[in-house]
Amino acid sequence: KTPDAHVPRDPRLIRLTGAHPFNVEAPLSDLYNEGFLTSPELFYVRNHGAVPEVKDEEIPDWEFTVEGLVENPLKITFRELLEEYENVTYPITLVCAGNRRKEQNVVRKSNGFSWGPAGVSNALFTGVVLGDVLRRAKPLRKAKYVCMEGADKLPNGYYGTSVKLNWAMDPNKGMMLAHKMNGEMLTPDHGKPLRVVIPGQIGGRSVKWLKKLIITEAPSDNWYHIYDNRVLPTSVTPEEAANDPRWWKDERYAIYDLNTNSAIAYPAHEERLDLATAPETYSVKGYAYGGGGRRVTRMELSLDKGKTWRLANIDYAEDRYREAAVDQKLFGGRLDMDWRETCFCWCFWNIDIPVSELKEASDIVVRGMDEGLHIQPRDMYWSVLGMMNNPWFRVTISLEN
Ligand code: MTE
Repeated sequence: KTPDAHVPRDPRLIRLTGAHPFNVEAPLSDLYNEGFLTSPELFYVRNHGAVPEVKDEEIPDWEFTVEGLVENPLKITFRELLEEYENVTYPITLVCAGNRRKEQNVVRKSNGFSWGPAGVSNALFTGVVLGDVLRRAKPLRKAKYVCMEGADKLPNGYYGTSVKLNWAMDPNKGMMLAHKMNGEMLTPDHGKPLRVVIPGQIGGRSVKWLKKLIITEAPSDNWYHIYDNRVLPTSVTPEEAANDPRWWKDERYAIYDLNTNSAIAYPAHEERLDLATAPETYSVKGYAYGGGGRRVTRMELSLDKGKTWRLANIDYAEDRYREAAVDQKLFGGRLDMDWRETCFCWCFWNIDIPVSELKEASDIVVRGMDEGLHIQPRDMYWSVLGMMNNPWFRVTISLEN
């Protein structure tokens, strides 16, 4: 019996680590087939330890603090948060910084477990704008960071990290304290009853089971902030990283905004295509996302290992949700975010390839580019934690006559 015996889970999820803690992704085809909104049951899970058990009747009294460099320290219960603050709902994609790490581990073992390309999910998050809460606490002028801490006690203390205070105060960054996912109370694995959600940045910043917001002058000194979620220079070996803490204490190597990334959902890697029964055209399709609110503006596919490229169609389902927001059909409360400027969700791309052209090609490669012209690189940037892996996504298929 694991400490998570109280947590309900979907058998379709693929375990990436041992029996405990729970780290899972859905089969990529199942994730893709769900479409724009991922159901909480198939949403990827990244837990560093045991899931705190919070009974429904305890939720109204769940308490978190706002402390540190503030004029007005606060203690807020879940009940007060709902009663005293306005709620907003935004669709937001969360991505683990380890998404696609398996490809790095194949080249050279990193210090992390092997995520496939389904360490990403998207949901409608409902909650309170983080800046609204911080403004009531009145941060002092010298304050620069918001540290966040969860309720999960781990070998190196509680899980915690930080982001810049000026980001948190900017309503267009969309940061929130969320209590609902797709209109329902958060599930235990996703932070029940309250979590931070930080759009456009790596999932590791979105602290679950929130207990503390600490306003500081320096970035978080939490163990998990320092020794996790970093891309160290590629020359640093696991041995050097283990023996020299200076590599970890350099905040320049901490990662925040996601990088441009994509994956092919169909065909699956090593799929066999029977030419006798195949249709004339095959629809190659998948997902893509940008970082920091940037839109993916092109998806390109190559059948000749990157010599020539053809342009895929992109569907921005997020835009339809924005329209619904304008109509006030879907979103509660106000709409702070300037949605024309931001893109906080994944998009879906597709391109029809005549099967006759696939005959010569066993390799299908895609790459994405965002509005800032950040393009997925041809080559992998290996680093000791194996994070932010985003080279061209490749599948190999075989054809049968
Ligand atoms: N918050 C707490 N308290 N404990 C954790 O282990 N994991 C982080 C983040 N927040 C974590 C946490 C990481 S690394 C990621 S990628 C996201 O939560 C995963 O969120 P999810 O499990 O809801 O998908």
